[in-house]
Amino acid sequence: MSENRDLFSKFDDIIQVRENLLASGVEDPFSLVMEKVLSPTRAICNGRDTILLGTYNYMGMTFDPDVIEAGKQALENYGSGTTGSRVLNGTYQGHKECEEALREFYGMDHAMVFSTGYQANLGIISTIAGKGDYIVLDIDSHASIWDGCALGKAEIVPFKHNDIEALENRLRRIPEGAGKLVVLEGVYSMLGDIAPLKEMIAIAKKYGAMVLVDEAHSMGFIGEHGRGVAEAQGVIDDVDFVIGTFSKSVGTVGGFCVSNHPKFEIMRLVCRPYVFTASLPPSVVATAATSIRKLMHGSNKRAHLWENSKRLHAGLTGLGFTLGTKEPQSAIVAVIMPDLEKGAAMWEALLKEGLYVNLARPPATPANMTLLRCSLCAEHSSEEVETILGMFERAGKAVGII
Ligand SMILES: Cc1ncc(COP(=O)(O)O)c(C=O)c1O
Repeated sequence: MSENRDLFSKFDDIIQVRENLLASGVEDPFSLVMEKVLSPTRAICNGRDTILLGTYNYMGMTFDPDVIEAGKQALENYGSGTTGSRVLNGTYQGHKECEEALREFYGMDHAMVFSTGYQANLGIISTIAGKGDYIVLDIDSHASIWDGCALGKAEIVPFKHNDIEALENRLRRIPEGAGKLVVLEGVYSMLGDIAPLKEMIAIAKKYGAMVLVDEAHSMGFIGEHGRGVAEAQGVIDDVDFVIGTFSKSVGTVGGFCVSNHPKFEIMRLVCRPYVFTASLPPSVVATAATSIRKLMHGSNKRAHLWENSKRLHAGLTGLGFTLGTKEPQSAIVAVIMPDLEKGAAMWEALLKEGLYVNLARPPATPANMTLLRCSLCAEHSSEEVETILGMFERAGKAVGII
């Protein structure tokens, strides 16, 4: 009889890396518990009052009194969950109102709410690009985009990150007449850099491709009305599908796609990650709708968040840290670490100072980098950003990075 192969043996390498890291005595960066959350920018972690600089809570909506009240009301009036799919018993008034808020926010004809942003990418990409179609995508795309490509069985054609010429070269080689979808992100969340959407979308259109832009990290913040990088670059009308999430600026959980495509509504019947899963709880769609409507009037918060991003970027550069972008391009400021050990030590030193940031490591990161990713919030005060810089200076010196 042949010996059974342990199906977990494929994880041996990653188990070893983790064991080596923990053996160095460093606290586990991937099992932190937020014991109490005090505000969008502060929590108690390991018994310590901690500034949050790694939560993607860009617009600080999680504790907005109107948002909380809307959630409470919905919980009382509609119960704790829908126990059903959107196409059966899981569409409540709140889901329709949330989609109406999204249509207004983007000025688009159609909006479809999914249970997460991950499922929005999975569902839309796999449903519109199937066998025989081509998906041309940036190599640094989010995992949910890659998984959507894999589920749909289209031909996958990646191109070098943010490289306009590489995109054109790929499109040129695709057989004429084939269905083509170009998938881009507004902000790439690892380094916080933005895409040259204006040029890329023009090229996609030249070759007859449809365009999907994931604006997960720009919604609410970038662009005059917070519609994202496509709005800021004046090309939102040329985007066929905008994907977004409620788990960042909106401050809750959920995902969506908005579109002007005249046949878009058929997606509700053919998109499996929409049909074969339960819909969001009424309290969640109520908080999302209220938050989205408030974000329409968030220009002061957007201006302050830009100030915060510029202050942090300039301060860290001045201290001698190497950052993911030369100029601040979004609310993400990524600090490049020399290696995983130093990165984990720096992460821990910052936590002891009272600052939480995200540690990101390969394979999630581009070019095998270890990063400390900082995401700013419109609710961080200017003084808080100065405090954060002091923490980086002390931790960086203690760990020997600056
Ligand atoms: C670019 C991008 N798209 C989609 C998602 C998925 O969003 P959600 O958290 O709603 O599943 C994320 C989340 O990190 C993301 O960064």
